[in-house]
Amino acid sequence: MKYDFDTPVARENTSSAKYDLRKEIFGRSDVIPLWLADMDFQTPGFIIEALKRRLQHEILGYSFPPDSFYDAIINWNRRRHEWVIKKEWIGFSPGVVPALNLLVMALTKPGDKIIVQPPVYFPFFSAVENHGRILVNNPLYYDQGEYRMDLKQLVLCLDDKVTMIFLCNPHNPTGNVWEKEVLMELANLCAERNIIMVSDEIHSDLIYPRYRHIPLASLSSAIAGHTITCLAPSKTFNLAGLSTSYLVISNPELKKKYDAMLDLVHVGAGNIFGFTALEAAYNEGDEWLEQLMEYIGDNLRFLTDFLREYIPPIKVVKPAATYMVWLDCREMGLGVKELRDFMIHKAGLGLSDGPLFGQGGEGFQRINIACPRATLEKALCRLQDAVKKKVSGIQ
Ligand SMILES: Cc1ncc(COP(=O)(O)O)c(C=O)c1O
Repeated sequence: MKYDFDTPVARENTSSAKYDLRKEIFGRSDVIPLWLADMDFQTPGFIIEALKRRLQHEILGYSFPPDSFYDAIINWNRRRHEWVIKKEWIGFSPGVVPALNLLVMALTKPGDKIIVQPPVYFPFFSAVENHGRILVNNPLYYDQGEYRMDLKQLVLCLDDKVTMIFLCNPHNPTGNVWEKEVLMELANLCAERNIIMVSDEIHSDLIYPRYRHIPLASLSSAIAGHTITCLAPSKTFNLAGLSTSYLVISNPELKKKYDAMLDLVHVGAGNIFGFTALEAAYNEGDEWLEQLMEYIGDNLRFLTDFLREYIPPIKVVKPAATYMVWLDCREMGLGVKELRDFMIHKAGLGLSDGPLFGQGGEGFQRINIACPRATLEKALCRLQDAVKKKVSGIQ
């Protein structure tokens, strides 16, 4: 392997939310942090070099996304996802979560209903409720270790107050890559009722072998007409600290409303380091990404085998994408608070607590496996030890 994912990088005292907020989040700063969705791998050298080159010009004044930023996005999506998009469809956002909030403000009104499908990335909930819109849950169903979208149940939720649905594809935290048939059926249900689909596809580059991500808006121009896709290089290339993401909106009316909202709150200018990093990532990042996914795939196998062999009550929900892995801990027989306390205080792990992700999260934990194998192994040994002590009644 050309790139090194094994060497640990010290991240304490670097304003890293994942490391330096442990005390606030977990009540202690000695847990192994496997919660927040960034990676413990170095941001790739070709991105760091591009940033250093930009720094040689020592004026950091106001900026705007250059043509080369749009070209990089267009080429990446064509190359990686066989999705042809146009420059005028691309909008800027300082993050996907800000984009979700801006879209709710721009395209719905107070009292409208917005559908989410829990367990799901929890900022979806606040993006609805913080703006006086009504959250409607259409939970995924879980059957024999697999999650599915409940489209029959969805139909029952669709009254004329529903104006938007948030799709998570790939789905955080369950790791689903939604199949074409499911996306088509969902899109048809929404089209019939004029419901805007906001498709958060931030994890779409992080796909395991044998799976393929299908951008919802690539299915047809009619579907694209009522779809807004949210994307970013931040998860893929470890750039979350640069607050740079983008949207693809082919419907000019929706795009105009989004841009107007972005202007209203004055967050559309972006930052030159974000533009520079995105371009380097998308223009030079293919080989690095192949190797990253190989390494993460090996971590996933390591995790799955370790749990099966040494901690059988905890089961991996097999993901098709992303380094955030959903663990079914229900056989541990612990209540919600007990499970969280067990992970923090007995196992010494900083995981994401299942109930955060809404309905269906009880008894689950989410672990981030984008770390050197040695870190993962250390975390799993701690967990094994804690479970052993629990079983033998020592704790
Ligand atoms: C599905 C999903 N959307 C959005 C984000 C965060 O996006 P941003 O940092 O661009 O706001 C995450 C981060 O974990 C995520 O998992």
